[in-house]
Amino acid sequence: MTEAAKRAEATRVVSTISGLRAALDERRRGGASVALVPTMGALHEGHLALVRRARELADVVVVSIFVNPLQFGPSEDLDRYPRTLDADVAALAGLGVEVVFAPSVAEMYPAGASPTRVVAGSVGGLYEGASRPGHFDGMLTVVAKLFSIAQPDVAVFGQKDAQQVFLVRRMVRDLDLRLEVDVVPTVREADGLALSSRNRFLDDTGRRAALVLSEALGAAADSAGEGVDEALAEAVAAFGDHDGVELDYFVIVDPETFLPVAADASGPALALVAANVGSTRLIDNRAVILAS
Ligand code: PAF
Repeated sequence: MTEAAKRAEATRVVSTISGLRAALDERRRGGASVALVPTMGALHEGHLALVRRARELADVVVVSIFVNPLQFGPSEDLDRYPRTLDADVAALAGLGVEVVFAPSVAEMYPAGASPTRVVAGSVGGLYEGASRPGHFDGMLTVVAKLFSIAQPDVAVFGQKDAQQVFLVRRMVRDLDLRLEVDVVPTVREADGLALSSRNRFLDDTGRRAALVLSEALGAAADSAGEGVDEALAEAVAAFGDHDGVELDYFVIVDPETFLPVAADASGPALALVAANVGSTRLIDNRAVILAS
């Protein structure tokens, strides 16, 4: 048997909470540490980078695949969100993932949308949260459930979802959850486009137009030495003449608070952007160094 075939055989797909707990308890009794990579599936190289990192960090890697209805608004793309479980499991088996946790909505929310929620607070209402009300409460609620179910030693997230990472880290701190959060840099196409499960919705024109997000971040990074206003002006100018692209927000935040930086701020900051390319919502971010 080839190494790849052996690895694939070792991958278990578990769809119940009790099944996952039993599998992990057994491994923990043998002294194994556990890393969790929470995903909504439709895996791409960005997710696989998280899995590779998780393999470095723990003995057992669990990847959850669950399209969480709680984090989608009524007019959002829950129904059209890509679901590619077989291909996802094959990719994860190739990387030696031990357990794929792929529960149904009924398994995760047996009484329907749970009234008990984790509240993301005021930062949860900014940027992504302003355009997607309730999104971060729903995201934190499912992440807290996944942490409770899998009890990982470490959970791995992607920097591409910077606001999500900020809120997850803060939840872990505020609720004294016993795990580490590890963050992996955004994986990009050669031309700079950040990988996203939603990129598959872009046609050729949309794919070309979507580059404006990383270009605007580049423009902000290049002009950050001239101050916040100049960086924002250059970034917004990059969006100037792109048909079919609607800028939602471009903001420069303090990575410690996730609040917009003051006009005279200097030092490390994070530029965040979101835009609709046709009907596809894309986000991206980049570290910048401001000089006032
Ligand atoms: O980033 C995602 O894919 C989701 O927000 C997460 C963390 C899996 C929670 O549903």
